[in-house]
Amino acid sequence: MGDERIEVFSGDITTLEVDAIVNAANTELAPGGGVCGAIHRAAGPELAEECAKIGGCPTGEARITGGYRLPAKHVIHTVGPVWHGGGQGEDALLAACYRNSLDLAQDHGLASIAFPAISTGVFGYPLERATGIAVETVRGWLAGTSDFKRIVFAVFGEVAERAYRAALDT
Ligand code: APR
Repeated sequence: MGDERIEVFSGDITTLEVDAIVNAANTELAPGGGVCGAIHRAAGPELAEECAKIGGCPTGEARITGGYRLPAKHVIHTVGPVWHGGGQGEDALLAACYRNSLDLAQDHGLASIAFPAISTGVFGYPLERATGIAVETVRGWLAGTSDFKRIVFAVFGEVAERAYRAALDT
């Protein structure tokens, strides 16, 4: 069954006007490549300065900062698991990224959030498996609250868009 609060956006997450965009970060919270690099470039150097003060984030957890020059008010940095074949707790860690990001957003009174496809780039997570976890975890979390108005899955490319739409259709 569809949840009207959830949508798929195909394009650059840094363009979205939401309360928070989620960054697929590294444990050092350093500016990296991929979506992380794009977010740091669009936000400006103040974002890396705030991240350096936080000092890091363990895999599966989340931290919040300002959005600086982004249209988004905040960035929620979460560290996805590196894919090692699935036998090292990757699924549970990936689900924790989505849950902890939503918990943090809720604690800060936020009502709209955009997620990239965490771990599916440099970290090598199989796209369909990651998509299933993302959709299932967010749906389950949303079922328990009416605080959130809008959840966006911001994806890059047709293949990812199709995977998300298929997962949301089931
Ligand atoms: N908007 C939306 N999605 C994007 C964007 C963007 N601007 N840029 C890349 N993506 C997509 C990729 O296509 C991929 O599907 O984000 C997804 C996640 O890919 P990565 O950014 O590589 O993230 P991840 O696999 O979690 O690896 C994290 O990469 O950049 C480093 O610092 C980061 O070390 C960390 C690692």
